[in-house]
Amino acid sequence: MPGMDRYAAESRRLLSMSMPFLNEELMKGTPRFRGQDLRDPRLRRSTLDPKAIVFESRLGGGSDGFVWKVRFGDEGPFALKVFWDQVPPHEPGLYYSMQRECQNAAVFQMMEASLDVDPVLVYDHPMGRKEAIENYFSFCEENCRPNLLPNATKPAALPGATYISTLPRLTKCYGWLKLRKDLWSGLPDDMQASHEDPSKVKRLMSSHMDCIGVVYELIEDGENDAAAIEELDRFLWQAGFAFTIPPNLKDWKNGIMIDHAGIVHVRGYGWNEDDYMKRSVEGMLAGLDDGTDIQDDEPLAPE
Ligand SMILES: Nc1ncnc2c1ncn2[C@@H]1O[C@H](COP(=O)(O)OP(=O)(O)O)[C@@H](O)[C@H]1O
Ligand SMILES: [Mg+2]
Repeated sequence: MPGMDRYAAESRRLLSMSMPFLNEELMKGTPRFRGQDLRDPRLRRSTLDPKAIVFESRLGGGSDGFVWKVRFGDEGPFALKVFWDQVPPHEPGLYYSMQRECQNAAVFQMMEASLDVDPVLVYDHPMGRKEAIENYFSFCEENCRPNLLPNATKPAALPGATYISTLPRLTKCYGWLKLRKDLWSGLPDDMQASHEDPSKVKRLMSSHMDCIGVVYELIEDGENDAAAIEELDRFLWQAGFAFTIPPNLKDWKNGIMIDHAGIVHVRGYGWNEDDYMKRSVEGMLAGLDDGTDIQDDEPLAPE
């Protein structure tokens, strides 16, 4: 009964939206990455002092939030992203972008911590949800090879499996912080958030709570590099991430993905197998006119 399906889907959405995604722990050193932490990823709090924030310029806004170039006292510059929705959106089917980005950033940091210990064995061409989940949990502490095989030399991967040994270049995340709700009224007009849909700005400005922002490394403008994009695409697939919208060059600078709201980890709300199996950045790379001849020696998963 379609009505009941929609009801069940909405119940699942509301349950996902209610999952906490912020960790009060300060972002110092590497995070813990046990299976339980990957099941319930939470971004740690930034060590930067929100009281020392200086807004330098507007970088722009999109469907999920607005981004400024900021400093914190002597530290910076950074990119500060503040999401239009500071609470889960009411509309059925909508994802909660702040939750998605915080979870993605937490997952990347856990994966990085895992790779710092040892390479991670994954399916080379993961097919579908089950293998995506297995690959995802290959990064957890319990599966770290030194614990399993002390002093062992790395055995060759079996056919169909491969080792991931480094995290590709990703925009670094410095954690979340809380900004006072009266901050916006103190900003000059030319520094205010804006969007062609004013209701988005209003949602943020009329929030009666202090709001949460996420601090990222500031990525300078630059040419996109097809090889770097393909490397990240392969990593995302092997690590269980799906693109929720077709990848678009406007979300990349210097071959680095700057907008992390268009991808989702395999346990996150909005992950689905069809998106996962499409996975390809090829369509986007076809628009790159830098003369790079894109070789595809990695066969794509069948659609
Ligand atoms: N880390 C960053 N470094 C530099 N510019 C950024 C960074 N993050 C976002 N931006 C800029 O801010 C704008 C909006 O950011 P984006 O993350 O795409 O927002 P949304 O998720 O709402 O689409 C983009 O045009 C992008 O160029
Ligand atoms: Mg965007």
